Amino acid sequence: METVLSGIRSTGNLHLGNYFGAIRNFVKLQESYNCYFFIADYHSLTTHPTPADQHGNVRQVLAEYLAAGLDPEKATLYVQSDLPETAELYLLLNMNAYLGELERCTSFKEKVRKQPNNVNAGLLTYPVLMAADILIHKSHKVPVGKDQEQHLEMTRTFARRFNNLYNTEYFPEPSAFNFGEDLVKIPGLDGSGKMGKSEGEGNAIFLADEPEVIRKKVMRAVTDSGPTDLNEEPSQPIANLFSLMKAVSEPETLAFFEEEHAKCTIRYGDLKKQLAEDVVTFTSPIREKINEILADPDYLRKVALMGAEKARESGAKTLKEVRSIIGFRAF
Ligand code: TYM
Repeated sequence: METVLSGIRSTGNLHLGNYFGAIRNFVKLQESYNCYFFIADYHSLTTHPTPADQHGNVRQVLAEYLAAGLDPEKATLYVQSDLPETAELYLLLNMNAYLGELERCTSFKEKVRKQPNNVNAGLLTYPVLMAADILIHKSHKVPVGKDQEQHLEMTRTFARRFNNLYNTEYFPEPSAFNFGEDLVKIPGLDGSGKMGKSEGEGNAIFLADEPEVIRKKVMRAVTDSGPTDLNEEPSQPIANLFSLMKAVSEPETLAFFEEEHAKCTIRYGDLKKQLAEDVVTFTSPIREKINEILADPDYLRKVALMGAEKARESGAKTLKEVRSIIGFRAF
């Protein structure tokens, strides 16, 4: 049976981009594949959280995963640092990852721009750690959003390089997965690029946001001064609001506002009010579940322990085989 794996950094609450980019697909896949879903807490160290935040964030994200529909009985749900074999595989893969290709990686260049005072080696080798996450369970499919496409390409390169170097077919070459469709990119509310936790206040809608917070964020979303020509293409900020509507609203609702835009009769206030209500309707059951789960630390502990045990069974087996392929042998 094919193995599916995906993960999310524990740097903050989950937002609609995480949900539609990764979690939603994973929830479908967990029914029929051998699935691993983890919280990338080693990765989150690149931004130097305090120890209290480090733990609190992992707890929060675990509760949010569960509330969003990940089932610990069907999938293996674990915390990355509970599988320390990941760190060893990362070390081994680092020996075949080259400075040039790591420096050329788009996400690295972006980080250098955003945090010039903290360009640490963990940032440079971020894609290698991600490859270790994926390869440690010999995964085939990786449900992720569009922003992770290049990282997946690098994972394939590292897998192929390992196989060639040791003349083996050991690692499968995993692919980004979205049921045969293009990978998803959910836009933020600031009129520009994607929804992201580090894109600034008001850009992202979090699954745990209270209805009032959601309404405020959506009402403040960037728009334009309105269409002036019939059938004019929506500008980027308006196209972004339509994309969000496509994700959370009924198709007829989206069609109505698109038509209003085409006829130049659209009222952005109405569009935002409707979008806000549809987001609230969509996230409310998840938010309530998050709060319920957070109030049950015993359950969270049980889930984390169970996941760690299952993940280590698979991870330890891979590491043993990899060590033997590389030439680490017992005397
Ligand atoms: P992270 O934590 O930034 O995002 C987690 C998942 O959410 C998706 N995503 C989006 N999808 C669509 N639109 C958006 N606006 C949006 N924002 C985020 C991401 O594509 C991702 O699928 N490096 C990863 C974490 C990771 C990982 C892995 C993922 C570590 N190891 C191994 C898969 C496999 C990251 O930072 O994702």
